[in-house]
Amino acid sequence: MRAVLLEGFGGIDVLKTGEVERPVPGKGQVIVKVHATSINRPDLVQREGKYPPPPGDSEILGLEVAGIVEELGPGVSGWSVGERVMSLVGGGGYAEYAVAYADHLMKIPESMSFEEAACVCESYITAFLNVFMIGEFSENQVAILHGGGGGVNTAAIQLCKALLPQNRLIVTVSPEKMEKVRELGADLMINFREVSDFTEIVKEYTGKKGVDLILDHIGAKYLAPNMNSLGYKGKLVIIGVTSGIKAELNLALMMVKRQQIIGSVLRSRPVSEKGAIVAEFTRRALPKFADRSIVPVIEKVFPLEAIADAHRMMEEDRHFGKIVLRIAE
Ligand SMILES: NC(=O)c1ccc[n+]([C@@H]2O[C@H](COP(=O)([O-])OP(=O)(O)OC[C@H]3O[C@@H](n4cnc5c(N)ncnc54)[C@H](OP(=O)(O)O)[C@@H]3O)[C@@H](O)[C@H]2O)c1
Repeated sequence: MRAVLLEGFGGIDVLKTGEVERPVPGKGQVIVKVHATSINRPDLVQREGKYPPPPGDSEILGLEVAGIVEELGPGVSGWSVGERVMSLVGGGGYAEYAVAYADHLMKIPESMSFEEAACVCESYITAFLNVFMIGEFSENQVAILHGGGGGVNTAAIQLCKALLPQNRLIVTVSPEKMEKVRELGADLMINFREVSDFTEIVKEYTGKKGVDLILDHIGAKYLAPNMNSLGYKGKLVIIGVTSGIKAELNLALMMVKRQQIIGSVLRSRPVSEKGAIVAEFTRRALPKFADRSIVPVIEKVFPLEAIADAHRMMEEDRHFGKIVLRIAE
């Protein structure tokens, strides 16, 4: 089968396309004939050799697929060959065929294309897990979402607006993407190129109460302003550490305000845990895709052979929302 391969680890020039053996499904797994996948920031980190796949998962890049069930492995029931599905995968999405666990499959709503479906699993499930399941974002609350132009955070804005339309969202964003973030539903935007300590802006906006939830992938640089912006019983959910891993924390303030800091990863969770997350996402969020209240934001669709251009676009932060890789027509 055709796939994107890595010739060593490093920059964009290690990405090649070539032929490899088609995978074989194990117990509880299916083979998906992949029509489309999408690029996620962790793929770039894996390409650089700093984010290996969990043991047993494919070494090929790609954390999600949209396509057609091609073959059922032993013990799989409830799914049929030929069904349109999308799924999280531990790796292997940048290829013509990928292995997925049957418990991680979601039926693609008829109203969605393969390209749109290829955007759902990694970004929207990450956003859903951390904002709704872990962050317990609920009615009449206020959140800060950092980096509103990216895959996870365009997804988070859309999910919040579809599931909790009254809630207010403060979004940090680069100036070029501000207008699009406003159109998606952000209530207050902060230009992160000009403002790195957003504490006073958040205080003023929330009438000194602070916010209930922060979804952060910046890490060290934002720890202090995040904690200062978090209200009583607020939750800071950390899903990335792009600015560094070490920072000072005022434990007394955290204790008195009964705040929580929660670290979260999706990829390395056990199969059964991911299955439970997918089931909850299917129940609460998928109907919003089916009725097109949520339509994934796609910056550009690239063919498999143009994988280098697709990675370059993300590396240069030229995308708003998702970058899709089309594998088959
Ligand atoms: N823990 C998990 O389970 C999990 C799962 C998936 C992803 N992640 C992490 O989540 C992050 C986002 O992933 P993604 O695929 O959505 O990547 P992405 O599309 O590249 O989004 C990253 C966003 O971060 C923004 N940004 C850069 N510097 C910033 C700053 N100083 N303040 C605020 N925002 C800033 C960028 O803004 P502009 O575009 O406006 O320049 C960009 O929109 C990555 O760190 C990734 O590793 C974690």
